[in-house]
Amino acid sequence: MPNPPTPLILDVDTGVDDAFALMLAARHPDLELRAVTCVAGNAAVDQVVANTLYVLDTAGAREVPVARGAARPLLAPPHDAGHVHGADGLGGFARPSDRRASSLSAVALLRQELLRAIGAGEKVTLVPLAPQTNIALLLRTYPEVAGGIERIVFMGGSASGGNATAAAEFNMWHDPEAAAIVLAACAELSIPVTMYGLDVFQRVTVDGDDAARLRDLPDPAAQLAAALIDQQRALFGQETCRIGDAGAVCAVLDPEGLGVSTFPVRVEVAPGLTRGQTIVDRRTWHGDHRAPSTTPKHGQGQGISSYSTAPVVPAATVDVALEVDAARYAALWLSAFGA
Ligand code: RIB
Ligand code: CA
Repeated sequence: MPNPPTPLILDVDTGVDDAFALMLAARHPDLELRAVTCVAGNAAVDQVVANTLYVLDTAGAREVPVARGAARPLLAPPHDAGHVHGADGLGGFARPSDRRASSLSAVALLRQELLRAIGAGEKVTLVPLAPQTNIALLLRTYPEVAGGIERIVFMGGSASGGNATAAAEFNMWHDPEAAAIVLAACAELSIPVTMYGLDVFQRVTVDGDDAARLRDLPDPAAQLAAALIDQQRALFGQETCRIGDAGAVCAVLDPEGLGVSTFPVRVEVAPGLTRGQTIVDRRTWHGDHRAPSTTPKHGQGQGISSYSTAPVVPAATVDVALEVDAARYAALWLSAFGA
């Protein structure tokens, strides 16, 4: 008896690589895309909604509900990523959809789908691919939804330097408070977490030959993917293009393709050079200054360090991806087009 498809929900800031992720999530037979929620990030939230509806249209997934979420971070001013994703968020290839977003807000749609899963005795994998503003609002407003979450597999963070700044990855940097709240809530609510950060995000790529093969397919999603690959190759002057967020969906489909290690992780929220940095504590000797005395079990955030009486931002126990079979994930993504 084959396993039923894995139910998942994506939270996106569509964006070129969010589009790659949506195409795989909508099409792979081992996944059941229940909903997509949108947040300001790469582009303004209304542009993200429009892009998400359009990409799902091209992928033949017009039945998947799309909801509008937070228009800005919890505290920080918004910063878009138009310099990477284009003014329209889709490299200049954005087109209108004839569909409308859900009448529910992102948090309401997430709550509805997760409570529905609980009622059906199911759990949903939640895949944030954007600033985590919606997810923080959800978990702080409706902690009871945790029973419907199998795992949070998020694209964000890094154990080895940033992209938005020298220290911070864009999704964490855009709303550090939200990211810190999500990690704290996951520790308190015993939600398993996988961090698909820059350490692996930057390694999974496709190239111009892949784009040429996609362009020849009679498939609007493949042709959009080809155009986006070539736009990114031209922008960065490179032969290859990262599949980016789509790698986090690959991690849901094929966790064996990822090498993870479990560490306490915090997000820096203080102003300054490291704001938004994910502090991945890889120390193994527990006697050092403010070292993890033990790897915190789920439900026990590290509130008070062993070194100082000053409370520190609680750490969550996170499965941090440090290795990836890049060719395996690139092929998995291309399989969404039969390529
Ligand atoms: O740092 C990369 C992340 O920021 C990706 O999710 C990309 O889409 C942007 O949101
Ligand atoms: Ca994204």
